[in-house]
Amino acid sequence: KVYRATTTAPVNIAVVKYWGKRDAKLNLPTNSSLSVTLSQSDLRTLTTATCSAAYAGQGDSLLLNGEASDVSGARTQACFRALRERRIALESANPSLPKLAGLPLRIVTENNFPTAAGLASSAAGFAALVRAIADLYELPDTPSQLSLIARQGSGSACRSVFGGYVAWRMGDKADGSDSLAEQVAPASAWPEMRAVVLVVSAAKKGVSSTSGMQQTVATSGLFQERIRTVVPDNMAKMEAAIAAQDFAAFAEVTMRDSNSFHATCADTYPPIFYMNDVSRAAVRAVESINAKAGRTVAAYTFDAGPNAVVYYLEKDAGIVLGTFSSILGAGVDGWKGGVSPSTEQAA
Ligand code: DP6
Repeated sequence: KVYRATTTAPVNIAVVKYWGKRDAKLNLPTNSSLSVTLSQSDLRTLTTATCSAAYAGQGDSLLLNGEASDVSGARTQACFRALRERRIALESANPSLPKLAGLPLRIVTENNFPTAAGLASSAAGFAALVRAIADLYELPDTPSQLSLIARQGSGSACRSVFGGYVAWRMGDKADGSDSLAEQVAPASAWPEMRAVVLVVSAAKKGVSSTSGMQQTVATSGLFQERIRTVVPDNMAKMEAAIAAQDFAAFAEVTMRDSNSFHATCADTYPPIFYMNDVSRAAVRAVESINAKAGRTVAAYTFDAGPNAVVYYLEKDAGIVLGTFSSILGAGVDGWKGGVSPSTEQAA
């Protein structure tokens, strides 16, 4: 008999960024962060987990976009181990359950967007991996409990366990048991929110976020200021903006936090540059769209890569998307417009 579970998890794009670890093994962050989970129809990972006694002796395996991928990495192993431990607990409490925890896992996973292009593929990837195995094992864990496991795969993955507007609370315990994600508002609380992804480059990024943030923590003085005062202030303002559906406030915090994060990258020694000339043109385009409209209609943000994500409200879709296509036509590889926050909870 083959046991199988399939799930999808959407990409999330942070508006208050996670950058810095206090524990690199458990992916415990130096600051809380907040993101918007994008709709699954646009950017998502689709994952199927199977296990069977017929695979006995074969070892765990992972197929990513059709290619065999390494499962021996510490992060993947941490997720497998945590999920198996929970299944073992379930099996010992219910002896009639099939013994799945000891069987090899086969994971098949596919992204509908470029992997490792700074499009948060690891976030959707680990969220889907954890959810698929949790479903396969019929674990009773809540999404926040599963976010603790997804976090060990990739920090930002803990936020993709939820739809809508999601906070990752940094926590302060050494074992990470309070460093988890929670939904601050469902997508339906602010359904007019949209995002457009400007794919400046689909090439694999230069400095991985894992190594980039370690270098920043070790060398940037500006980073200390960011985690002490800038981020706590941005978290409070962002949660208030979402609660009030105040787009101008949401946009200002989003742009300031992205700028602050990239400033700490530039302050890293040697410096890290994720944004390029096309990224900077996108910043100018957003500024000119807002100036022309006489109010804030668009907000940019950049992760650990050159691609821009621009948030706007549905009523301003014409102004925002129209201006982008005329200003940035050349130099942008492609784009995805009209992405909305995910309405469903991924987990
Ligand atoms: C800039 O979650 O990819 O996108 O925990 O090492 O896997 P690891 O890092 P990762 O970092 C994401 C950084 C970011 C900001 C964010 O998503 O909050």
